[in-house]
Amino acid sequence: MYYKDLNPGKRVLMGPGPSDVHPRVLKAMATPLVGHLDPDFLTIMNETKVMLKEIFQTENEFTIALSGTGSAGMEACLVNILEPGDKAIVCVNGLFSERMVEIVKRCQAEPIIVESEWGTIVETEQVERILKKAGKVKLIAVVHAETSTGACQPLEELGALAKKANTLFVVDTVTSLGGIPVKVDKWQIDVTYSGTQKCLSCPPGLSPVSFSENAFSVINHRKHKIQSWYLDVKLLRDYWGKERFYHHTAPISMVYALREALRLVLQEGLENRFARHKFHSNALVAGLEAMGLKMVVSADYRLPELNAVYIPKEINDLTVRRALLNEYGIEIGGGLGKFKGKVWRIGLMGYTSKKENVMLFLSALEDILTYLGYKTNERGIIAAADIYRKQSKI
Ligand SMILES: Cc1ncc(COP(=O)(O)O)c(C=O)c1O
Repeated sequence: MYYKDLNPGKRVLMGPGPSDVHPRVLKAMATPLVGHLDPDFLTIMNETKVMLKEIFQTENEFTIALSGTGSAGMEACLVNILEPGDKAIVCVNGLFSERMVEIVKRCQAEPIIVESEWGTIVETEQVERILKKAGKVKLIAVVHAETSTGACQPLEELGALAKKANTLFVVDTVTSLGGIPVKVDKWQIDVTYSGTQKCLSCPPGLSPVSFSENAFSVINHRKHKIQSWYLDVKLLRDYWGKERFYHHTAPISMVYALREALRLVLQEGLENRFARHKFHSNALVAGLEAMGLKMVVSADYRLPELNAVYIPKEINDLTVRRALLNEYGIEIGGGLGKFKGKVWRIGLMGYTSKKENVMLFLSALEDILTYLGYKTNERGIIAAADIYRKQSKI
């Protein structure tokens, strides 16, 4: 018995990730393989590192693409730093920071949770107060772009606070890199991890990470061996560095893909790319609000790449998401954890962030909601089109 040819449905990926992959990235993935220690591949690894540094806005030498998804990056950042008995402050305001707490516990370290409502940010003063009472803390961890809520956490003040307290600053940039500014050096971030499948518009599979020399000096003073062999950044540094010691076999086609995705980011220009994300999000939000829907996050802290909106009370979450998928081929995300059944998460990440997707989605949603008996205040697409006319063309 043979299965049929691979033929999944055609989709517009407007969920929390993966986002639509740029055709140039797909083409790069079909490039014939070379060996992972081939001189040509070593050049490709080097180029990937250089471009990652530019996009992370850092001089950190150890800026690489870790093999594994964003969660592997999260785990790598925490297991390399934390030892049993260490204290770690984790700012918790969504699902991914809760995952950080879980990993901290698995390192047998003690998580100190600074909590804020889902959909809001953690204030620097909250962390400052806890820091004063906590004694010696090894790191402060925070999620920059919380994909479960759509909130954008400001980082500059937290970075300065961490520096003042002589503790490491660890930041999840999975959903921010390539969509909004990530300034690793300026914001004094010591350790960060990202993912390929969000605003970089590459398939999932790699986690760009960056560690400062400060972070390495803490790692070098560990009492215990790093508990993970695969994610040991000292071994990975020798694999990605001049030594080129064999550690594992890099997923070659994924590195090809990421290299092309990074080239696309830099060809567009970081500032243009951030402006594009904001531009299309503004149009989407105008459309949703015109239809009478309410955004989860206040405008000051709203992510342009992940737009979370409350589901009207009388409307069933799954009915709408199924209709979007089956009738229009559009994927959006439902709520996670506390937000399950209560919010939709509409992604406009990387290649997905464009006018035709915004207009298609708003028309599809309006059609489905109207069919289900929901009365929209105004036409969403008219409000969005209005924004497109007012703002300069991108
Ligand atoms: C903010 C954030 N952190 C971490 C992760 C985990 O990444 P992955 O699913 O690629 O393992 C995600 C995935 O959605 C995320 O959005």
